[in-house]
Parts: sequence; C-alpha cells; structure tokens
Amino acid sequence: MELSNEAVDLLLDWFSKNKRVLPWRRTRDPYSVWISEIMLQQTRVEAVKDYYLRFLSRFPTAESLARADEDEVLKAWEGLGYYSRARNLHAAAKRIAKEGFPDTYEGIRSLQGVGDYTAGAISSIAFSLPRPAVDGNVLRVLTRYFADDGNIDDNRTKKNFTDLLSRAYPPQAGDFCESLMELGAIVCVPNGAPFCGACPWEKLCMAHRAGEETRYPVRNEKRARKLVNADVCVLMRDRKFAVEKRGEKGLLANLYGFPFFENGTETESFGRVLAKKKAKHIFTHVEWNMTGYLIEAEEFFPEYEWKSAEEIISSCAIPSAFKAFMTWLNETVL
Ligand code: ADE
Repeated sequence: MELSNEAVDLLLDWFSKNKRVLPWRRTRDPYSVWISEIMLQQTRVEAVKDYYLRFLSRFPTAESLARADEDEVLKAWEGLGYYSRARNLHAAAKRIAKEGFPDTYEGIRSLQGVGDYTAGAISSIAFSLPRPAVDGNVLRVLTRYFADDGNIDDNRTKKNFTDLLSRAYPPQAGDFCESLMELGAIVCVPNGAPFCGACPWEKLCMAHRAGEETRYPVRNEKRARKLVNADVCVLMRDRKFAVEKRGEKGLLANLYGFPFFENGTETESFGRVLAKKKAKHIFTHVEWNMTGYLIEAEEFFPEYEWKSAEEIISSCAIPSAFKAFMTWLNETVL
C-alpha cells in the first residue's frame, strides 16, 4: 500500500481551502503548538479553543509555566479533564525552561506527557519534520481509503500506517499532518455515514468505491464502563464549605472535591439535609451516578478543609464531575 502523490496533493489542496480557523493555527511556535496538542489529546476542538487562549495569555512561555505553582496550573486546567496532562505539562516546562525546546522527534517524544502521536504532531507542525501523527481518527481515514481490514487496536496496524505516511510526506509537513486530522474530524467522521461528497479522496477511496465506508475501521469490541454509585456531601456551615484534596491515586487524583462516598453514607450524621440532586459524570472507563446532598453541617468536621465559596471558586481546581453541585456554592455568593 502506498499513498500516491496525487492523493497527497488533493488532500493539501482541500485543506488549504477548507481548514477550520483555529487559534493554534495562527502560529508554528513550538511552545504554543505543544500546549495545543496536549489539550487536544483527549478533548474536542470546540472545548479546547477558549482554554488554549486563556492558558497562553496566563502562561505565554515555558519559563512562565515553569515558575507557576502546580495549583495555579491545575486551576487553569479546571474543567478540561485528564489532569495528569497538566501535571506533565508543568514538569516538562521546567525542563524546557532550562534546556530549550527540543527540535528532534526523539527529544520531543522524551518530554513528559508526550506520546508517539503528540510527538509526531509537534514534529510535523512546529519543525516541518516528516514524522506522522497517527491516532484513531487518522487510522479511520486510512483504513477506509485502502479498504484495509487491519484491526486499529493492534499496534502493527498503527505501525504499518505510520510507515506508509512517513514515505508519503511532502515538504509541507505541518499542513499534511493537520490535513489528515482535519479530514477525520469534519469529513471522514465516525459514528454513522461520512460526508463522502465533500471528500477530496472521493474518487480514490476504496471503501467508498465499494460502498462500504462504515465497515471500516475494524476494531476490538468496547468494554462496558464500570458503574459507581456515590453520595456527594456538600457540607455548609457559616457560609463555609467542606472540600478535600482527593488522594494521590485514582480518578481526579490530587484535585479538590466534596466529601465523596462510594458506598453511600449516613447523611444525617453530618447534619440537616437542605437539598438533594442527582448527577452523572462519564469518564473513559467509569461512570459516576451521584446523589448530591446540601447539608447544614453540625460542626466544622476537622477531616475537611473549610473554605468560602469565593475562595473555592477562585483558587481550588474543582473538576467538571462536581459541576452540578457547584450551583449550591454559587447561590451563596453575593
Ligand atoms: N487534534 C489534534 N491535533 C489537532 C490539530 N492540530 N488541529 C485540529 N485537531 C487536532
């Protein structure tokens, strides 16, 4: 299998005319490209836009990020999810501040939090190196193009397509890399029929020619998410609320949350229940079914940190999983 020069040219031409205007496409500065690619790892483009702009104005250089406190970095990341990304970013910024931004694929790949895909994207976009960025979206595009039955959850399939793209790289490495991502994002979409009429490869795509676009990609069956039922207690006393820094391991490690009980709790033991609401949060492998209780606490239980709503909102990174219960805090802010 090879990707022809014709296919590459059609794709680049399509990209130049159809690419979305995105804030990180205004620059090839390695630091900015790196920040955008880390944010885009597990998060949708639409959700990333504002975070990217805010983060770069707050931390415009690796040096400014390296100097920040971890809590400040987590606060800037609040709501984006997958918080180990923020911690890795902070650690890598300290190295970059000392040594400069690496300018080889291997150097970039060795930064904390940078895997093969992100190293390929930064190499291509910021340094014009012919190093492909291959994720599920790119594999969907290519397995359709070649009507290839390779299982995309198998590393050999990823390796085959990475090698194939390396051989096909044109001098416009950054545009080529982003054009594949863009085609997967806006034309050759997952879940349902792709928009083949808008595709620059409509005439070349073997899956389309066979009318079998949705047969690809072939992949393992998804495992069901684990369901967790939990009680979340929002304890309030004298306009202060109980929060706790979550443990070092597990979901949302080291972030702030409300007292959280996976196997339920005796809410009355904390005080009088003023309100109750249910909320759900979906992680990659786990689903939380939460029942939240707003409770007038009988005392300042010493196992928690007690802070005003203003203080929590301005300086604690509270993950989106708890967003539904934040309205109880917001209501007390004058
Ligand atoms: N997903 C990952 N990297 C991206 C980029 N640079 N542009 C759009 N979507 C992306």
